[in-house]
Amino acid sequence: MKRTFVLTNHKGGVGKSTSATNIALGIVALLRQAGAANPRVLLVDTDSQSHATLVTTGRNDFDEDNSLYSVLMANRQDAAEIMGQVIVPSKWDENLHVLPASPMLEQAERELQGTAGSPYRLADPLAKHAPHYAAVVIDTHPSFSLLTEMALVAATDAIVPIEPRYLETVGLMNVISKINYIRDGWRIPNLRVSGVLVTKMDRRVRGHHKLLDELSAHPILGKLLCGVIPMNEAVSYAHRYHRSIFVQNPKAPASKAYGQVAGRIVKYMGTSGGA
Ligand SMILES: Nc1ncnc2c1ncn2[C@@H]1O[C@H](COP(=O)(O)OP(=O)(O)OP(=O)(O)O)[C@@H](O)[C@H]1O
Ligand SMILES: [Mg+2]
Repeated sequence: MKRTFVLTNHKGGVGKSTSATNIALGIVALLRQAGAANPRVLLVDTDSQSHATLVTTGRNDFDEDNSLYSVLMANRQDAAEIMGQVIVPSKWDENLHVLPASPMLEQAERELQGTAGSPYRLADPLAKHAPHYAAVVIDTHPSFSLLTEMALVAATDAIVPIEPRYLETVGLMNVISKINYIRDGWRIPNLRVSGVLVTKMDRRVRGHHKLLDELSAHPILGKLLCGVIPMNEAVSYAHRYHRSIFVQNPKAPASKAYGQVAGRIVKYMGTSGGA
């Protein structure tokens, strides 16, 4: 099955967009390096803040006519065709495509609230486009809003980025329960939590080590740990210049860490029949 990864956590600023964008590019690069016939990856931005869209396309002026908003508000029979029209190439790589977000998504959420079948408005048209890609990566808003629910309904694998702080790890079980609730509630058995990604790890902070140790030793969460991204100034510079971390500084610790996470994901795609 083709894998669709969703980066999600209702907590803000934990590195969802940084991870979604760099993992998406990392998958493209690794598949190309491996000589894959189709190394293309689609990045879907479901967050009205449009950060993933901005850094990968250099634009944040997408609106009702050329963004995910147009797809969600379309007649259901036209949605897949419209999705094909609004997907744009990224500036990062010809094989990384972007379904852009727009501030209008907040309005879509209000308009679609309570509408029959609304949680499927992303999954249904995406099912027609996903087969053309090696993988799909979805970035989400820091909340369990309708749009995040749509993203989860469209996904096969949830990856939860967290910072190594006590309350974050306490909240982590709630995030996992919420994802499981959506899987069972909407009867989407393919959705699973397949990774917990620790971000902004500062090796100089003792508390960070302690939490990472506790997380690694946890019987459930320890098995889900799929990477540790160090706190690294290069990430802020990469955002400022709308670059991937790999281009900003290929030798930076965060570059190496994101490369490793992408490597694990590509391996997982191979073993789960997705690549
Ligand atoms: N590894 C890192 N090292 C240093 N800074 C980082 C790192 N990862 C992310 N940041 C910084 O943290 C901030 C939040 O990152 P990001 O936008 O990826 O989080 P987010 O979870 O998508 O946020 P939001 O919930 O608002 O969508 C940004 O300013 C980013 O530059
Ligand atoms: Mg974000």
